[in-house]
Amino acid sequence: MEELKVGICGWGNVATGLFSALENNADIIASNSGAQFTVSVIGARRDNPKCDPGNTPIERDIFDVIGHDIDVVVELIGGVEVARELIIKAIKNKKHVVTANKAVIYHHGDEIFKLAKENGVRVLFESAVCAGTPIIKLLKEELAANRVSKISGMLNGTSNFILSNMEEGAEFDSTLELAQKEGYAEPDPTFDIEGMDAAHKIGILSALAFGTPLPPKDFYVEGITKIEKSDFTYAMDMGYTVKHLAVAKVDENLLELRAHPVLIKLDSHLANLKGVRNGMEIDTDLIGKIHIAGSGAGQESTASGLISDLINLANSKAINDQPENNNITSYKVSEFSELVFQYYFYIEAEDKPGVMASITSLMASKQVGIESIVQKEELDENCVPIILITDPFKESDHSELHKELLTIESVKNIRSIRIESN
Ligand SMILES: NC(=O)c1ccc[n+]([C@@H]2O[C@H](COP(=O)([O-])OP(=O)(O)OC[C@H]3O[C@@H](n4cnc5c(N)ncnc54)[C@H](OP(=O)(O)O)[C@@H]3O)[C@@H](O)[C@H]2O)c1
Repeated sequence: MEELKVGICGWGNVATGLFSALENNADIIASNSGAQFTVSVIGARRDNPKCDPGNTPIERDIFDVIGHDIDVVVELIGGVEVARELIIKAIKNKKHVVTANKAVIYHHGDEIFKLAKENGVRVLFESAVCAGTPIIKLLKEELAANRVSKISGMLNGTSNFILSNMEEGAEFDSTLELAQKEGYAEPDPTFDIEGMDAAHKIGILSALAFGTPLPPKDFYVEGITKIEKSDFTYAMDMGYTVKHLAVAKVDENLLELRAHPVLIKLDSHLANLKGVRNGMEIDTDLIGKIHIAGSGAGQESTASGLISDLINLANSKAINDQPENNNITSYKVSEFSELVFQYYFYIEAEDKPGVMASITSLMASKQVGIESIVQKEELDENCVPIILITDPFKESDHSELHKELLTIESVKNIRSIRIESN
């Protein structure tokens, strides 16, 4: 039986979850993988009352873990720069690395993978994207014979939880508070609700599927903070719901990378993934569309992904499978402003004769077609909401149109959401 000696760095939520899962599921892990894992050392700058490490030696300086007789360093400290330093030191000391840290892979992936290759070790990161939901291995191994043309999905559990609750009639702020109370959202949820977490994940998936660099060139990222509860009501009347979608897509030699709220058809697979679940749709040439969904966070789910990496290492330590950016030159990254979307517009205007005509004639002057326009029931203060779905037009004209609509005297407020085509 192959034995792998493991050093865990960090002793928080995920690290203690990994330690417990290795202990509690040792029998099933051994029988499924033929491998045995020994945690030889833990790097913990302080004890964690939630987990007793037994007789496992503890290093208070996480960098000292690397000096032990171990095969693999499991980096679970989070953050970017210290984690990078730790991973680089581990690689230079010929230790394999397993990490759940999306931020360090996103910002320094290319540097780390190159160094690992030069040093004959591997860096695995299954749980960095959607924790235990096996998207990395799916792309690298199971779909290896396929040309992937699009990956799209809800990659942030907190955002999906908030939007699913708003779909049921809840307000943004109270749902965010609930997510924090339930432990789905961090005390500082900025990274989740402003879209950066999903952006990191789609950047990593794009590197795997399309060979884009890590870090990628900047791309368009928008969070969910401007979505209102009423957007769900109006969207649903037209057969849509609102989701936060991260997308990596190639068309001919053009590559799109983006993460922002969208309206998607209510009967689509992704529309029906509710709550904290992460879910993705992958378009491939050989097997068509494939869907994968699962828990994208949490101690146990993340431990599952980490252990799958450890098993992979134990069974094939010598395989050289670091992502290589062979395709970098094949794809030109599209400017976001050049992309074309249909848009949902919510326009709040005074209930005066002629307001609809002013809006439609402005749209006509901008050569933006209207698929549908409906005036809804009056709000307070003599204002009416007008819900408009445009024909497809260029993103670069979208913000201009926004500004010009606001110059119509009776228009008081506008918001818009892009519509994701199938
Ligand atoms: N939580 C999840 O559901 C989840 C899911 C997927 C991936 N991840 C990733 O897993 C990693 C760990 O997350 P977590 O939830 O376990 O975080 P956590 O509970 O905050 O634990 C982080 C641990 O690392 C230690 N640490 C942080 N910086 C350090 C430093 N400079 N030197 C020494 N120790 C340091 C912390 O020590 P102190 O306690 O002393 O600060 C703590 O023990 C992150 O990269 C995260 O993105 C988490």
